[in-house]
Amino acid sequence: MAIAETFTMAMCEYAWTSFRGNAKIWRGAPQGTKWEKRIHPTQKPVKLYMWQLKLFARDGMRILDTHAGSGSLEVACMRQGLKCWGFEIDQTYYEMARRRIEEEAAQVNLFEEGGEYEQSLLEMP
Ligand SMILES: C[S@@+](CC[C@H](N)C(=O)[O-])C[C@H]1O[C@@H](n2cnc3c(N)ncnc32)[C@H](O)[C@@H]1O
Repeated sequence: MAIAETFTMAMCEYAWTSFRGNAKIWRGAPQGTKWEKRIHPTQKPVKLYMWQLKLFARDGMRILDTHAGSGSLEVACMRQGLKCWGFEIDQTYYEMARRRIEEEAAQVNLFEEGGEYEQSLLEMP
């Protein structure tokens, strides 16, 4: 999906890793889609995180998200069977992300009866 010239935020973002490898480009819809409700101003698409996890995460890893925001990474981890700890300092975003994670868990459970998902969004003290 092309980004409108009138889009007020950056039209691309860079990310670095400590892994060896060549540069990769992921193209997606930064403004969100009708299938992914926007609840946070800098919310990343779940598909972006799924792509990153596929490239870099390995079975059994636990992902640490120190700035959870909308909970997109937590949702991506759930979809890929990875455990994740998320932290969010803002109470409002925390509540919205938690709801989103719970909704995701309910969706998954419809199809995978008895499946277990350990997903935590940890409340700040
Ligand atoms: C750039 S946003 C993260 C967006 C997220 N990746 C997403 O896809 O929705 C950064 C978030 O970190 C939170 N934050 C800032 N400082 C924090 C801290 N010390 N501990 C936990 N969360 C923090 C902010 O409230 C904000 O929601």
